[in-house]
Amino acid sequence: MPENSASSKPFLTDVKTLRDHARRHLETGDVTRTYKGDAKRTIDILQSVLATELVCVLRYTMHSIAATGISSEGVKKEFAEHAREEQEHMMRVAERINQLGGKPNFNPEGLLSRSASQYVEGANLVDMIRENLVAERIAVDHYRELIRWFGDDDPATRVMLEGILVKEEEHANDMHDLLVTHEGRPMLSK
Ligand SMILES: [Fe+2]
Ligand SMILES: [Fe+2]
Repeated sequence: MPENSASSKPFLTDVKTLRDHARRHLETGDVTRTYKGDAKRTIDILQSVLATELVCVLRYTMHSIAATGISSEGVKKEFAEHAREEQEHMMRVAERINQLGGKPNFNPEGLLSRSASQYVEGANLVDMIRENLVAERIAVDHYRELIRWFGDDDPATRVMLEGILVKEEEHANDMHDLLVTHEGRPMLSK
């Protein structure tokens, strides 16, 4: 066998193998052979997180418009800011579902049954603040549990949830402080 053919043939074969592997990897997106999680289960869990964030967007948006009464302006601004941040969370979770090969479920039908947090309008400003604090505490508990569950099986999903959790803890603290301001005493212990 001529020298140049012996040295060039394995090189060409390697390229072909690499291309074949790359094509298989492309078909599964970023769920490569090193992914230790259960992609289908992860997508199902993230659909529930997506619904939770969506309900939070809707509730905070509604409150930011409907809040009335003395000194409600500052509270309305806080609600509106939280609504924007919940929307960012919603987008991050939807993108992650897409990366894992799923289709983010934005269907309004059954939204509340998929969500961990609830949609409560609240009869007055203090009720609204209290309901948001309850919702944040639900999100914090839910996400802490999920972070532990994902562990090292899906670090990308875990890190995303850790980032969201930091914000939810801030939100819970904001709502707690607003409640203290408007009620004069903490309604729920931190
Ligand atoms: Fe959120
Ligand atoms: Fe939140």
